[in-house]
Amino acid sequence: MVNFMVSLSNPMEIETTIETKNLNLYYGDFRALNDVNIKIPGRNVTAIIGPSGCGKSTLLRCFNRMNDLTENAKVQGKIIIEGNNILELETDLIFLRKKVGMVFQRPNVFDLSIYNNLKFGLRIHRMLSDKDHIMQAIQSGLEQVNLWQELKDKLRKNARSLTLEQQQRLCIARVIILKPDIILLDEPCSALDPIATLRIEELLRILRQQYTLVIVTHNMQQAARVSDYTGFMYLGQLIEFGETNQIFTNPGEKLTENYISGYFG
Ligand SMILES: Nc1ncnc2c1ncn2[C@@H]1O[C@H](COP(=O)(O)OP(=O)(O)OP(=O)(O)O)[C@@H](O)[C@H]1O
Ligand SMILES: [Mg+2]
Repeated sequence: MVNFMVSLSNPMEIETTIETKNLNLYYGDFRALNDVNIKIPGRNVTAIIGPSGCGKSTLLRCFNRMNDLTENAKVQGKIIIEGNNILELETDLIFLRKKVGMVFQRPNVFDLSIYNNLKFGLRIHRMLSDKDHIMQAIQSGLEQVNLWQELKDKLRKNARSLTLEQQQRLCIARVIILKPDIILLDEPCSALDPIATLRIEELLRILRQQYTLVIVTHNMQQAARVSDYTGFMYLGQLIEFGETNQIFTNPGEKLTENYISGYFG
């Protein structure tokens, strides 16, 4: 198999995409993902929607092998990212999780200063050189999430003293600073008020110019507003995948139509 790291460092790399082939995931005997075949285009926002328990988070966690951390989870099939099957034993998981970053439902800032929250990942991934470079990286990360002006004089403040929206932006900055290709977001706005939610959505629309974004959301209006492509899941299966506009106005499957019209879920 091709070395993940060698392939990713090739500047002529094909556009970033995620593709799964007959992906199955079992928690013990329970089949949480059922032959999922999905192709996620690069530098777009893809939304994964579906009722509670249908496997959205499970699918998302497969893309950077977070499910490895769940003891009874067993994965079968292929997940091809930038040409490599990341399920191969040889995959460098630390490198994979740097390239495929993740943002969670509740902002998981560390009980550290804003500065140290951002420096943390740089240190883990040995991306630190001198203080000036760290500062440049931190500034650029905060600029990309629109926090620099607000926070540049408060970098020593504890990150937990920030508003939830600021904390979630900081979490996105913490991912961005590691120079990922893909950012996974699992219901990133569910702890936020409607105004903050709209502002985060606006940010995602900007970030998609540079990154491939995959967002799990319960909120169908959000999927419609923010995504270019949408996948609808039901009971562990990917029922339908397509351009968001098509999925919402002219779904190909009755189940999708029922779900988006609020019939169930
Ligand atoms: N660690 C686990 N062990 C056993 N079963 C699990 C585990 N994690 C999730 N499940 C089950 O797998 C199924 C899919 O869960 P998952 O969290 O992926 O769904 P989801 O679509 O993200 O749901 P929600 O919208 O509520 O977040 C559910 O039936 C859930 O109960
Ligand atoms: Mg979930």
